Formats: sequence, structure tokens, C-alpha cells
Amino acid sequence: MPKKSSQVTWGGRFTAGPAELMLQFSESVSFDRRLAPFDIAGSKAHSAMLASVGLITTKERDDIHAGLDAIFAEITAGKFSWDTKLEDVHMNIEQALTQREPAAAKLHTARSRNDQVATDMRLFFKFACGVLGEKILGAQRALLGLAEANRSVLIPGYTHLQRAQPVFLAHHLFAWMEMLDRDRARFGEVAAHANWCPLGSGAIAGTTLPIDREFTAKALGFVDAKGRPQVTQNSMDTVADRDVFIEFATACALFGVHVSRMAEDLILWSSAEFKFVELPDAFCTGSSLMPQKKNPDSCELLRGKSARLQGNLHTLLTLTKGLPLTYNRDLQEDKPPVFDSFDQAALCADVLAGTLQGTTVYPDRCAAAVADPALLATDLADYLVLKGVAFRDAHHAVGAVVRLAEKNAVALDHLPTEEVQRVHPSFGSDWVTVFDLKRALAKRVGTGMPGPAQVGKQFARWKKLLK
Ligand code: ARG
Repeated sequence: MPKKSSQVTWGGRFTAGPAELMLQFSESVSFDRRLAPFDIAGSKAHSAMLASVGLITTKERDDIHAGLDAIFAEITAGKFSWDTKLEDVHMNIEQALTQREPAAAKLHTARSRNDQVATDMRLFFKFACGVLGEKILGAQRALLGLAEANRSVLIPGYTHLQRAQPVFLAHHLFAWMEMLDRDRARFGEVAAHANWCPLGSGAIAGTTLPIDREFTAKALGFVDAKGRPQVTQNSMDTVADRDVFIEFATACALFGVHVSRMAEDLILWSSAEFKFVELPDAFCTGSSLMPQKKNPDSCELLRGKSARLQGNLHTLLTLTKGLPLTYNRDLQEDKPPVFDSFDQAALCADVLAGTLQGTTVYPDRCAAAVADPALLATDLADYLVLKGVAFRDAHHAVGAVVRLAEKNAVALDHLPTEEVQRVHPSFGSDWVTVFDLKRALAKRVGTGMPGPAQVGKQFARWKKLLK
């Protein structure tokens, strides 16, 4: 027997161990140890399969399971000693198992770390998507709470950051709600894409041993809605593929973009210039120099984190671009960006929920802003359209009326009727009724519009969906 190197899993053909520097450089256990629960679940399913096809005995399987359970207990208790010399989570666990159970030497039968790590990560993605889905749901519930507490508040809606048209605050908040709901659905789709079992693909070309891939897939929950096992269909693709990593990072990055837009609206709304809202003290900080300052830090960080989430996506795309099939060690670098995206997206969802929960609205400031009659200039054009004027002509006429009001320095709805009629003869004596805000909102009856009946429907919809 040759002298055993410390790398029991692959040291057979080596006469010298890796350099200290190489160990430092190549270890991943410092970050992939968080895969331990998935790695252990994978090993239990794999050994159960090996026993079911007769490659190991049931006694060996039971010993392996008992050993893995004990190791898992140690890990959760924080008592497991991780060794960077053993490279990664897979070898740390296998080595610890080998020290306890002689049967452990058979665990890696018909398996490679390549299909093992692909399996661990797919299990991780299913878990992570579930967690993020729940957290986004929490943020959506906080958002619904804020909308409900301010049901009747109207604000100007903006385009180009210029006042455009009046909307219920709830309508604006429900725009955010739609974004968050798409994010939640997207994580569901990523989880569905992750739901294919790689085990049995081996290092690249499967195995000569008579394994049962469907058994392992079932044991690990890689099943369709009817409980049928789902196994990947090409061993080379399986160990090379990192699409789900990229899809997950994409979902996180897009969620980050959405959150950054909500954060930006909140930052604007909380400024003295708007003062539509007051952000919670618990999510703001002060200035070390200016005593009066209350800074919207949670929102600024939510805006900033989106850059990081996009960076992680970019790392993964760059990592896989041009990489020859199949597995290359480069792919070990796939995990830090994924874990960072998960951790940061989870934090963002929680911080968004907390910030929304503590936000209060200043109805008077909102009312003052939305009272600007210019917000209903489009309604005035629609008024002319109903009198038979072509929209382009109506638009032009109302533009002239707006200019007139500006020139005379009066509010749009305070111009004398005769002057307005001089601009266009189709303006009737009732033209100012257009500026009744309540009436104007009530006219927005179509699906997706900000009229009170439609917004009421959306309240009912979200209450039902977010129960
Ligand atoms: N730590 C490795 C990774 O994360 C596991 C796979 C190693 N495979 C190998 N052929 N060296 O990618």
C-alpha cells in the first residue's frame, strides 16, 4: 500500500501533497460549509440508493446514515471542526464519516464531487427560493398595510419626475406590489428549474455500476407535481451547467432593481421638498455634523445593494462564458456570488418590510400637492374630445390654456371662462367641473386604472392573494 496522503479522496496517484499556498488558494470550505445540510441529505439519499440496488448492505447504509446524522448534529451545534486542508464541505464530511464508520469508504461509490456539488446546489436553490418567496411575501404584506392605512390619500403621479396625473397613493404602492409579486413568482420558477436531480451523472459520464437515479431523485424531492422523479438528461450538461445559478442571481438582481426604485421613491417622498411621508427612526440615521439631519439610510442602502446583486450576476456570467465542457475548477467560484445574492436579497426584503411598516404618511402634504389643477390638464383635453374635438387639437388648445394661466400667474382652474373660450369655442360654461378631483378619479373606471372602484378591487385582490 502506498503512503496515504492527507487527501484520502484523491491522493492515491500523488507522491507530494499540495503546497500550503495552494491549500489556501483552493479551499472552498470557508464558504461552502453552509451546504452541509444539503450535502448530508444528498449522501443519505445516495447511500439509500446504493443499498437498494445491492451495492452496499443495509447495515452499511444504516451505519452511514447514523454517522451522517451525528455529524449533522455536531455541525448544527457548532462543534464540528472544519479543516481547510480538506478543501471543501464534501471532503470534510466524508473524512469525518470515514473516521467513525468503516462503511464510509463505500459512500462515494458511483458518485463524483461534480454531480455531488451540482446536487447540493440544486437543493440549496430550492430552499433559497422558498425563503426569499416568504420574505418577499412579508414585504408585500407590509406594503398592503401601508396602503390600507392611507386608503383615501391622493398624490400626484410622476413622469420624468414632473407632476403628471393624480393617483391614489395606494395605486402607486400597488405598482410596487406588482413588481414584488413578479419577483416572488420568478423565484418560484427558478426553484422549478432547479428541480432536476444530477446524481448519477458522476464526474462527466455517469457510471458503469447499476445505480437507480430515479430512486435518489425521489428521495431528495426532485419530483414533479404528480410525485414522478425528475432526473437530468445529459451527464455532461449536468456537471457543466450553471444556468440555475445565473437564473437565481438574475431573480435576485431584478428584485434588487425593483427595491431600489421603491427606495428611491421613498427617499424623494421623505425629503422636505415632498414631505409626503415620514420614514421610521428605526431605519434612519443622523448626521455626525448636522444635528437636524434624519437620513433615509435603509432606503439608500436598499438602492445601493442592487449594484452588488447585479455584480454577482455579472460574476457568474463571466465565470461561465467560454468555459469548455464540462466541469472546470473555475466553477468553484460559482458559490460566493450566489450565497451573497441570497443573503443580501433576504436582508433587503426584511429591511424593506420594516421600513414600510414604520412609514407614516402626511395626508395634508399629499393633498396640497395633488390639488395642483395642472394635473388634470389631460382631463380637460378629454373634455374637449367628448365635445367632438380631435385629440391632437384638444391637446394643443389645453396647452394654450396652460400657457395663458402661466402668463397671468393664476391657477389653471381660475382663468375666466371667456378667456378660455377664446382659446377654443368648444369649452362650455361647465369647463371647470373637470377640476373636481373626486369626479376626475371616478372617471378612471377601466381595469388597472387609478379610479376608486378599481383601486378597491385591487385592495380585495391583494388581501386575498397575500392572506
Ligand atoms: N469544491 C468543488 C466545487 O465547488 C467541488 C467539485 C470538485 N470537483 C473536482 N473535480 N475537483 O466546485
